[in-house]
Amino acid sequence: MSAPIRSLAARYYTDPAVFEAERTGLLARTWQFAGHASALENPGDYFAFDLGGESLFCIRGRDGEIRTFYNVCQHRAHQLVSGSGQTRVVVCPYHAWTYELTGELRAGPNIKAVEGFDKSTVCLTSVRTEIFLGFIFVNLDDDAAPMDEWFPGARAELEDFVPNWADLKPLEWVEIPENCNWKVSVENYSECYHCSLNHPTFSTGVIKPETYDIQPQGYCLRHTTECNSLDQMTYDIDSGFAHNEEYSSWFLWPMFSFQVYPGNLLNTYHWRAIDADHVVVWRGWYSVGGEDNETVRRMAVQDRATTVEEDIHLVESVQRGLKSRGYVPGPLVVDPSCGVNSEHSVMHLQRWMREAVDG
Ligand code: FES
Ligand SMILES: [Fe+2]
Repeated sequence: MSAPIRSLAARYYTDPAVFEAERTGLLARTWQFAGHASALENPGDYFAFDLGGESLFCIRGRDGEIRTFYNVCQHRAHQLVSGSGQTRVVVCPYHAWTYELTGELRAGPNIKAVEGFDKSTVCLTSVRTEIFLGFIFVNLDDDAAPMDEWFPGARAELEDFVPNWADLKPLEWVEIPENCNWKVSVENYSECYHCSLNHPTFSTGVIKPETYDIQPQGYCLRHTTECNSLDQMTYDIDSGFAHNEEYSSWFLWPMFSFQVYPGNLLNTYHWRAIDADHVVVWRGWYSVGGEDNETVRRMAVQDRATTVEEDIHLVESVQRGLKSRGYVPGPLVVDPSCGVNSEHSVMHLQRWMREAVDG
């Protein structure tokens, strides 16, 4: 008989050196969410963002393509843009070198005076970019496998669950700071062993726990369940789409999740790791054209007041507990038949977490 698998050692969640290894390793070679493509509607629209200590920016070209660059001038390293905006060309604020929207150097004051200066050899450093159902993801690793290889099947399944994804825009972002390591929050999201005890509204008013399961698809954890009996639902669902009465979620390792509530309501999680003890969870809610939608707003408010609020107390207590000298990592409850009361999903996650830090 093999011994049960034990949960990860506490230091993975508390040691700043582990966090630093994740920042320079894991974050630099996995697909990370940058923003929603609807923020870059027209050529020249851009926004800057940080990823693992790097400043980057996404910009839409005249050819319609969205590209991502390191936010650094190739002259003497000044930062190029901040915040968001619209521009015809990218102009460095230091000495006014200008770059095309495709990253090539276009001009610079007096550069013609320099013998042998070949402008075509100067270009902004680009970053791998993929648009995944209107969501912009980037990967600092030029050799990274495409998202469809990391998360097999996820794109097609999501298209099936959210047939109107091309019309959706963010209605609102809800920012949830949590005093815990990002992995504590991600693990908590990735099991429903705690649901019936801690999430009465979610367990009785949204999903049917006895049908809940989570299975890996590559580096995606796919949650599936039927919704609760319609008379118990806390909101009306009648999207007219297939899968109207199901809940599903696609967690994309390591820090993003697409979640579809019954009624084909898309919402997302984006974990932004701050340091070993802090994470901010960005919950995105979407509607057609980003227009006000009562059902979506009601869901966002209900979710924030129930599931999210309940989870904050759980994950913050766990982070305190991980710092206790008295904690010995316990066996995971891995049920061979899986289901809602099994932590097989946490087992997969912790395998990836170990792999990210220990190689
Ligand atoms: S550093 Fe950008 S133009 Fe000089
Ligand atoms: Fe939870």
